[in-house]
This record gives sequence, structure tokens and C-alpha cells, in this order.
Amino acid sequence: MSDLPDYVLTNREHWDKWAHAWVESGERNWTGPVSWGMWGIPEEELHLLPNDMTGMRTIELGCGTGYVSAWMIRRGADAVGIDNSEQQLATARRLADEHGVQLELIHGNAETVPFPDESFDFAISEYGAAIWADPYVWIPEAHRLLRPGGRLVFLGNHPFVMLTQDWSADDPATLQLMNPYFGMHRIDWDDGDDRGTEFNLPISDWMRLFDDVGFDVVAYHELQAPHRGSEVRFFATADWSNDYPSEQVWNLRKR
Ligand SMILES: C[S@@+](CC[C@H](N)C(=O)[O-])C[C@H]1O[C@@H](n2cnc3c(N)ncnc32)[C@H](O)[C@@H]1O
Repeated sequence: MSDLPDYVLTNREHWDKWAHAWVESGERNWTGPVSWGMWGIPEEELHLLPNDMTGMRTIELGCGTGYVSAWMIRRGADAVGIDNSEQQLATARRLADEHGVQLELIHGNAETVPFPDESFDFAISEYGAAIWADPYVWIPEAHRLLRPGGRLVFLGNHPFVMLTQDWSADDPATLQLMNPYFGMHRIDWDDGDDRGTEFNLPISDWMRLFDDVGFDVVAYHELQAPHRGSEVRFFATADWSNDYPSEQVWNLRKR
């Protein structure tokens, strides 16, 4: 009997099942330039990674195929990635080998990471723990793992998306408020074919959590699609994402 929370087990099943669909994008991102989220916003616009990460010990929380860690290693970091899915880690391991890169990979839950306090200088999650783990558990855990002054950067979908999507269908965000904003936390979705659990919070709750845990906000970005169009990327059209923020990035510093 596992002592993992029910949603971690549900999400593990989801990611083990779908890991094959992320191999190609993982391969592309391992060699591509640093760019963020579903609209590929260039790093030059967001400045989420220090240019020189020499001597920095980093952890990627929900590393998937590991390309964000690869970008940090290229900048000089000594990187660890943790992920809940063995299948995703299999791709990350293969790509690290093919690229001759030293990347320590751990199978586990980013809410309870097997490292001592203050082991890392920099923690990051792009759509990993950022959306699939409970913020009231993983944000304090990231704080514990960081040294004072250490940074936590994470990117995921914007709360607006959660408000305007029907969680029982695989449809993009709409122009209707379909779910309550206040009280937003755990979202169990089931589109008939597949199910998973994601998390998000009202912006004021995110900020209260950061302050309670001991993080200062360095920057907050609401990402906008760089073009218009009816093309759907994952959970929103380009038109929608050009008018409203489909993704958010929090850049935090441990006090
Ligand atoms: C969209 S991927 C993000 C990783 C990477 N940026 C990518 O796109 O390949 C989401 C990853 O989060 C992982 N994940 C979900 N819940 C997790 C948890 N509680 N702890 C660690 N990893 C988790 C999944 O297994 C999956 O590999």
C-alpha cells in the first residue's frame, strides 16, 4: 500500500500513460534555445535563468524529459531532476546519455524530496510540481530545499484558464466564467478518456502562501500569445491567449 497522496498516484498513471507523446518535444527542447511555456516566449524576454549558473546546485521539480535541467547544465549548473513518472524519466535518462550530460534523476514526489534542508541554490518547475502538486505542500518543500537567498521559479497555467474551462471536457478555455475563483485549489478533471488532478490558486492566495512560507516575489509574469489565430495549444486558442493570460510565472526569492 503506497503512502503517496491519491492525486500523486492518479497523476503518475496519467504521465506514465502519456509519456510517449512528450518524447518528440523533449528531444526538440533538449537542443533548442531556451524558451518558455506553450507560446515559446524567449528567455531574453523573461530572464528566468541566471546567465551564468556555474557552481549553482539546481533542482527541477517535475522535470519530465529534463530539458530545463539541460539548459541549466549548459549554463554551468550541477542539476538534479525529480519526477513522479518512471516513463518520463526514461526519456530524460536517454537524452542525458545521448547528450553526454551529467544529470541526476530521481523518481519521486516533488512534495517530499529526499535531500537535506538548504541543499540547492535554485529550484524550478515548468508545468511540473507547478501545476500537478499541492502548492500548500510543494511550495514549503521547495523553501526547505533552498539556501537563504535561493530562487524558486515556476511556470504553469494562469488561474483565468481554470475559471473558463469545462473540466469534464477536453475543450479550450472559453469566454465564460465556468468555475468559481474564490476557493480555487484542487481541480480533479475527467474528460471521459483520461483523468488527472491539477492545482491552482487565486492570485491573492498564491501571494499569501509565499509570504507565510518565507518567499519574496521578485517578479510575476502573465504570458501572452505573441500572435492571434484559432489554433489551439493545449488548453487555449491563440486568440484567447492574445486577449487574456493563459500562463503565469512566479519568480521568488527565499528570505
Ligand atoms: C508537462 S511535464 C513538465 C516537465 C517538462 N517541463 C516537460 O514539459 O517535459 C509534467 C511532469 O510533472 C510530473 N509530475 C506530476 N506530478 C508530480 C509530482 N507530484 N512530483 C514530481 N513530478 C510530478 C509528471 O510526471 C510530468 O513528467
